[in-house]
Amino acid sequence: MSETSSGPRGPMLARPAQGLSGRLAAPGDKSVSHRSFIFGALARGETRITGLLESEDVLNTGKAMAALGAGVERTGPGEWRVTGCAGALTTPSAPLDFGNAGTGVRLVMGVVAGAGVGADFVGDASLSSRPMRRVTDPLGEMGARFTTSDGRLPAHLEPSRLTGLSYTPPIASAQVKSAILLAGLGAEGETCVHEPQITRDHTETMLKSFGADIDVTRDGPACTIRLAGPQTLTACPVDVPGDPSSSAFALVAALIIPDSDVTLTGVMDNPARTGLFTTLQEMGADLTLQPGPDMAGEKTMTITARTSTLKGIEVPAERAPAMIDEYPILAVAAAFAEGTTFMPGLEELRAKESDRLAGTAALLAASGVSVETGEDSLTVHGAGLRGIEGGGRTATHHDHRLAMSGLVLGLASRAGASVDDVAMIATSYPDFFDHMAALGAVLEPV
Ligand code: S3P
Repeated sequence: MSETSSGPRGPMLARPAQGLSGRLAAPGDKSVSHRSFIFGALARGETRITGLLESEDVLNTGKAMAALGAGVERTGPGEWRVTGCAGALTTPSAPLDFGNAGTGVRLVMGVVAGAGVGADFVGDASLSSRPMRRVTDPLGEMGARFTTSDGRLPAHLEPSRLTGLSYTPPIASAQVKSAILLAGLGAEGETCVHEPQITRDHTETMLKSFGADIDVTRDGPACTIRLAGPQTLTACPVDVPGDPSSSAFALVAALIIPDSDVTLTGVMDNPARTGLFTTLQEMGADLTLQPGPDMAGEKTMTITARTSTLKGIEVPAERAPAMIDEYPILAVAAAFAEGTTFMPGLEELRAKESDRLAGTAALLAASGVSVETGEDSLTVHGAGLRGIEGGGRTATHHDHRLAMSGLVLGLASRAGASVDDVAMIATSYPDFFDHMAALGAVLEPV
């Protein structure tokens, strides 16, 4: 597998922007990119991937699948060929290192457990502080013999034989759901996951495309997914749609920077991912959404964002799973809105790449925004037409989304703002700097 070329590192200053404009293809979706490596590696045959997000997180998943026996080869920019092992993974000779990626490690834990091989799982400082029991406990109920470091990485898995499980995750998590379903592919008997509130459904959609026999039943906000193991996937081409979560940064920047007009094409249009756009529209955002072609079983859209007068709102707590990664950038938008924005139902934000609830509040407060946190809520008192002074420095805590949110706030503020380290942006959006520069933003090392 080819190595990553890393992007800018260290502190960076966002200068106040005069107006962003331009049209860009959205970067490839991170969730679908991880899954295309994983499912391609598990399948029988050759999976051709186009538009893969070549970020550090995704490439670490590719390396893990190669270490587990798949052929993973880059054939061009964003183009990969994965030669699958038809479910017959091999025990890797070294620990699987997932870097910063919760999705990579949690999904692959399920895959390796289901395949009946052993492995060691490691990650960077941020990933090593994140909870793994949410996955190792239910996998343990299926028969997987994990040992963890007090519920965190490093973790070790002994080769295990799994039986199916019926499970209702106690938290809304697509990673937990996916780990169990992927383990279920290799387990004896039926595996069933019941979600009281649906989370992103890319695993279910892509499993169907890879020929899995899987039943998905919706009941209002709830969803039940059943599959019987063991079963083997069949290779299938994947054309990765654009990432709504990464697209949010340029689109929100356009809404809050005067004289802006930005269009992103190919953005995945999946209701389990687009809660931010619904919320921004409720806040008065001038967003135009036009349908685009289907990609990898997903609808896509072209989104145009123009400078808008936003107003504060209460964001329904039940919308959180459909926009869980977007709260930092929503909070930045809220800082420029007239009135108060209340965001409840955010307990999961404390278990992300950092404690994102605290980190988001701190990045706003550092630039003069009035903000309050509760145990599971964030309240932002927007400045509206008065605008934000800026001048703060975001402490990113190894969190890519805090880094990008801090830079967008700087672009929209009077004095600009800086972040302490932009290195982690390469984990999810390596083209962020090129894209923002193409739209007219000035981001410079300090
Ligand atoms: C993801 C699920 C979400 C999300 C993450 C990607 C996925 O995590 O925050 O960025 O691809 O399944 P949780 O399952 O922990 O909510």
